[in-house]
Amino acid sequence: MCGIVGYVGPRPSQDILLAGLARLEYRGYDSAGIAVIDDAGDLGMRKKAGKLAVLRDSLADAALPDGSTGIGHTRWATHGGPTDVNAHPHLADDGKLAVIHNGIIENFSALRAELADAGVTFLSETDTEVAAALLGQEYRRTGDLATAFQAVVNRLEGAFTLLAMHQDQPGLVVGARRNSPLVIGLGEGENFLGSDVAAFVEHTRNALAIGQDQIVAITPSAVTVTDFEGNAVEAQPFEVSWDAAAAEKGGWSSFMAKEVAEQPEAVANTIRGRVQEGQVIIPELEGLDSLFLGIDRVIITACGTASYAALVGKYAIEQWARVPVDVELAHEFRYRDPVIGDDTLVISISQSGETMDTLMAVKYARERGARTLSVCNTQGATIPRESDAVVYTHAGPEVAVASTKAFSAQITALLLLGLHMGRVRGTHVDATAEVAELQSLPDKVSWVLKNEQEHVSQLAGWMADTRSVLFLGRHVGYPIALEGALKLKEISYIHAEGFAAGELKHGPIALIEAGQPVFVLVPSPRHSALIHSKVVSNIQEIRARGARVIVVAEEGDAAVLPFADEVIRIPLAGALFEPLLAVVPLQIFAMALATAKGLDVDQPRNLAKSVTVE
Ligand code: G6P
Repeated sequence: MCGIVGYVGPRPSQDILLAGLARLEYRGYDSAGIAVIDDAGDLGMRKKAGKLAVLRDSLADAALPDGSTGIGHTRWATHGGPTDVNAHPHLADDGKLAVIHNGIIENFSALRAELADAGVTFLSETDTEVAAALLGQEYRRTGDLATAFQAVVNRLEGAFTLLAMHQDQPGLVVGARRNSPLVIGLGEGENFLGSDVAAFVEHTRNALAIGQDQIVAITPSAVTVTDFEGNAVEAQPFEVSWDAAAAEKGGWSSFMAKEVAEQPEAVANTIRGRVQEGQVIIPELEGLDSLFLGIDRVIITACGTASYAALVGKYAIEQWARVPVDVELAHEFRYRDPVIGDDTLVISISQSGETMDTLMAVKYARERGARTLSVCNTQGATIPRESDAVVYTHAGPEVAVASTKAFSAQITALLLLGLHMGRVRGTHVDATAEVAELQSLPDKVSWVLKNEQEHVSQLAGWMADTRSVLFLGRHVGYPIALEGALKLKEISYIHAEGFAAGELKHGPIALIEAGQPVFVLVPSPRHSALIHSKVVSNIQEIRARGARVIVVAEEGDAAVLPFADEVIRIPLAGALFEPLLAVVPLQIFAMALATAKGLDVDQPRNLAKSVTVE
């Protein structure tokens, strides 16, 4: 949610800001704007409701004088609808100062009332304009942007990333963060700020991560970071491993299509460097055995797709590390009184590393003394920085809102983590067979993409008018049923539900009527003849009531043939590894159905990829 970019340097900034915003589009937004201090020293601003193209058209119709200090913003509406007026930047000090913001300023009503009493009139309904007005007041009092900025951030409550510039101090952009994301890009004679590295990765891969409650000031030649009291602090340098091309669509019809196809690579990259002599050893966790010893419980917390990866992780960690695992939606976890303490390991999963609910759950867990580990895809993100340890997924940048390759990489990382923990805890010391399974996965995922893509896409094409689809799974097939339903909801806007197949007779079977499409994920009979036969019985039960049954089953499973309208095949894999194969046809199905309905699969309505507010 909300994309932020800032630039100071020798170059005209407008194209840099617009390109940065385009790279942050994936975060989700409904209006966009930029402000630039032009070469004459005047601050110009343009902002528009709608997509970036609307802003670009407006700039093409009536140019904004260019200059080499600028800030840009894409807004996902919270306080006030997605209108031109509510879009950022917001101005103060008679239009000489511009502010952009990501997050929610929780004490904005009190501040707004105070400012209104002092005679300030507000143009928008946003909380951001309150911060801008406060900053204007402080600037007039102090005559220095950095000083004024420090005073203002100390008065704000809630979560925020704020960026500001003043026309009387060209060549300077100041920023601050509390719980919302902000990273610094270090160029040659130029510097950048961004919500994440995508904002500047085409210009530099040298970055600095800044911590909570810190302020940064960038000029073309210097970067200074302080805490909210003005004390200098050291920012943590890191090199961005993604290149700009990785976040390009290339020849693909959509980012989602590209990212679905990149899954074999995402899985392989996540495994790479973590297997030594047939055993799983995650180098980032070296010297951190104490995280896994003497624990009596693991809680995995996450939101959305990541929470379904967590459910698969539960099965893997319990099986190999022999410790009870609960999966908790991050937004539910914090708002009760969970039983956690220093014997609990809290694992968070987040592609972006910025999901506010997950971040708050991690902070809460730490406060309560728990050990924390994050599984994350984005370097420099907040959640790993707030955790005792991190296992990065190496899926590369994921741009489409609906998560695909990051999900596969998360499951892979959790399988690795389960085996690593099993070795450290002495509960599963020989992982030779599992390592062989893991290493065969990229090829098997490729097999599904190659052999089932056309079949599944065709099926989706025939079903474009479908109003509801159900998904059933058992064991690790259950989280995949949930994920299949979520993918369909997210991008095709079709009602979809995932159920544990065993629950069928406890309610969901009432939904079955003639022609109701139901995907059934059939586990291999080689793992458990009992579970397999139970699922086959479920298929018969829904078939008898008129369901149209689409089965995802391993090659050679003939038992499903008499009862299936369609059979989608996946290669043979170990029980805990099957989810990585079974999810692929469901992703393809959702994507093809959305495409058949003429929808934008990359940016579905109302959704943001990075949900940075609670
Ligand atoms: C949003 C996205 C989902 C994603 C979830 C968690 O809801 O639309 O695709 O699964 O956030 O995101 P995270 O970055 O924490 O994995």
